[in-house]
This record gives sequence, C-alpha cells and structure tokens, in this order.
Amino acid sequence: MSAAPYRIVFANEKGGTGKSTTAVHVAIALAYQGARVAAIDLDARQRTMHRYFENRAETMRRRDITLPTATFAVYDGTSSEELDALAERLGESHDFLLFDTPGRDDPLARHVATQADTLVTPLNDSFVDFDLIGQVDAETFKVRRLSFYAELIWEARKKRAMATIREARKEMDWVVVRNRTGYTEARNQKRIDQALTELSKRVGFRIASGLSERVIYRELFPSGLTLLDKGHLGELGTSHLVARQELRTLVAGLALKIPERGQLAMEAVL
Ligand SMILES: Nc1ncnc2c1ncn2[C@@H]1O[C@H](COP(=O)(O)OP(=O)(O)OP(=O)(O)O)[C@@H](O)[C@H]1O
Ligand SMILES: [Mg+2]
Repeated sequence: MSAAPYRIVFANEKGGTGKSTTAVHVAIALAYQGARVAAIDLDARQRTMHRYFENRAETMRRRDITLPTATFAVYDGTSSEELDALAERLGESHDFLLFDTPGRDDPLARHVATQADTLVTPLNDSFVDFDLIGQVDAETFKVRRLSFYAELIWEARKKRAMATIREARKEMDWVVVRNRTGYTEARNQKRIDQALTELSKRVGFRIASGLSERVIYRELFPSGLTLLDKGHLGELGTSHLVARQELRTLVAGLALKIPERGQLAMEAVL
C-alpha cells in the first residue's frame, strides 16, 4: 500500500474569500511539479473547484492536448464515514489530497479540517474578512478577541495534536493566505498587516502572500486553464508574467514537500 497522501484543506467559513480559486491554482501548480494530485469538492452546491477541473478536462478533449491536472470528485452527502471512504479511494496513489470547502460553517469542513496536514485560509485584504478570525478595536485596531472560527481551528489543532502523538504525524500547519491584494488603500493595508501579524502570534498561523486582484483569475474559469498553462493562453501581456511569479510565491509560501519521484524545479515549470 502506498503512503497516505498529504492533505491540504482550503477553508474559511466566510463566503467568497478565494478558497476555490486558490485551491485550483495550488493543485495545478503541484501537478506541474510532477506531484500526483487528487481533489475533493465539499461545496456540493456551487462546485466551483469541481467545475474548474471539468472545464479543464473539456478543454483538453476539445483541443486534443494533455495538461497537468488533478483527479477530482465532489462529495454531496452528509456522512463523514462515507467521505473518509471516498478520500481513501481517491487519494490512493496520489501525493496530495486537496479539499475545497463551502463558505459557511459546515460539519464536513470541520471534519476534514481536523485531518489537515496544511490548512489554508484565504482572506481578502479587508477587516470584513479579518473579522472571521479576530475582532479588532474600532479606535486602536488592536485585536480584541478571537472569533468563533479561530476557536474552532484551535480545537481542530488540539485534536490533531493528540492524533500526532498517537500516529507520529506532524502538527497541522495553518496558513492564512492573503487573496485579492493590491486594491486596498495603503493606510488600511498597513493596519491589516499589523493586526494580522498580532493575531498570527496569538493563534499560531503563518501568513503567506496569495494572489492579487486580477481579472484573469476569473476569466480563465470557463476554459479551466490557469496562468501556468503557458502556450495555451494566446498572447499574454507582461502583467501576466508578474501574475505567474505571484503563483510561484504562493506555492513556495505553503512550503509543501514535493515527492522526489518526478520532482521538477518550480522555476523550470511554473
Ligand atoms: N485574486 C483574484 N482576483 C480576481 N478575482 C478573484 C480572485 N480570487 C477570487 N476571485 C473571484 O472572486 C470570486 C470568489 O472567489 P472563489 O470562488 O475562489 O471564493 P470562495 O472562497 O471559494 O467562495 P465560496 O465561499 O462562495 O465558495 C470568484 O468570482 C472569483 O473568480
Ligand atoms: Mg468556493
């Protein structure tokens, strides 16, 4: 039997923070580096990640090309046992197993969060999103208290830490990824930076830079392509080179270990 895949869970119980967009890009970036990637969409209603991969498969068929991609499925049931069984089946012979979760408090999202090796929480650069992790004082912008979600993840990590002792697994790495950066006014940005840094120390997450606000991230959805699919996108301006760099930084920030088999240098392929 092959080793269990490394689990990456994209979760944030607030809607529209970039979970699905980040998940798809990370999955494809890993596949480009030679990793075998499986992905389960737990957002059975929107199925954004699932549909992105479907669109990608359709583009491959239509254009008769092969692109690095993920093995994917959507789980629309409510049973954690059934989900575990699907995860085991789909994750078999894969290096990574990714979960995209719905933007609301959801029992299955909680369930997979406790099993995450890396938990990725995308956050738009605003205090509205920030509120989900911690509440900030209106005058001083100091963090006043942790939110329900931060407490929840705290609990998930505690459970995970107990399993860590039993199963000799590593502790969960929680990474808050800033998404859609670049459109926040500079002063506000600085306040968010400070509050986030303060909170990261209190709650114990790392902060990684994510994607900036770009129309291209929305535009590529129907084709299932990403900026990494050089040579399949037509003419690209220089801003897209910058965007590709941004993707590299995002993946590097997650500090994932690509298995040696077929490992390709990120610079060479992304
Ligand atoms: N960096 C970005 N630049 C531009 N648009 C973006 C970016 N990231 C996400 N979007 C757009 O914002 C919307 C929400 O993103 P996405 O679907 O990834 O978020 P989500 O957290 O998965 O949402 P939900 O909670 O509804 O599942 C989508 O229309 C997406 O195309
Ligand atoms: Mg989504």
